Amino acid sequence: MAIKKADIHCHILPGIDDGAKNTEVSLELLREHRNQGVEKVIFTPHFNSDKISVEEFSAKRAQSAELLTSMKEFKDIGIEYKLGAEIYYTINLGELDLSNLCFSGSDYVLVELPTQARPHGMKRTFGNMIRNGYIPIIAHVERYSYMLKNPNELYDLIDLGCLAHINAEALIQKTKATSMICYFVRHGLVHFMCSDCHSRHRRPPNLKQGFEEMRSLLGDKYADRFLSNANDVFNAQTINPEINNLKKPKNMFGVWI
Ligand SMILES: [Fe+2]
Repeated sequence: MAIKKADIHCHILPGIDDGAKNTEVSLELLREHRNQGVEKVIFTPHFNSDKISVEEFSAKRAQSAELLTSMKEFKDIGIEYKLGAEIYYTINLGELDLSNLCFSGSDYVLVELPTQARPHGMKRTFGNMIRNGYIPIIAHVERYSYMLKNPNELYDLIDLGCLAHINAEALIQKTKATSMICYFVRHGLVHFMCSDCHSRHRRPPNLKQGFEEMRSLLGDKYADRFLSNANDVFNAQTINPEINNLKKPKNMFGVWI
């Protein structure tokens, strides 16, 4: 039986961040998701502790979710949802109470890193978060230049207990990073694929094509595993790290093997 698709990173809630600007766009994105076989979604609007408190963010998110999910049109689409957040990395995350930002009913937190400059103190901050009981999921690792250059930057965080995802567009758009993204997957350094959708034009729902690309580039094994992992996270279940076959990247004469 086909595994149901869950999208654990998207910006579909209306009027809260740079994603869907109103409920019309939200419904359009959800219908497109549903057409592509996505049945479960975690809404993850941007959160930055330097700009807003957890309490204020939670209230805004609840208001936006209520506006959307109380609509008849939303119910007619027939998609299950949970609330979460995409937390921008700051060095104080290890000291914050993030429980309201976890995916509903779980300890999973989605964390976005700066794209160009490797932030200071990542191992200590993520280590503190894990000690506080959270399971960090690092968002769209294909965007971080320092990880593409040195996959051990990612390995160190996964080895610590973090999980990670790529966006579907990372496999759909063939770029010079594609071979390193496939390397991440084969080395057990990523565990999910998400849409991170914002609108029909800017990063649209694309999990159908993303999984087709993954099956063609990497085979059914990884695609099925990623689908199953996202379902487990949506259902607040633990992912068994053994199934991910984590391998330490090695560099031989300038080539990552
Ligand atoms: Fe995002």
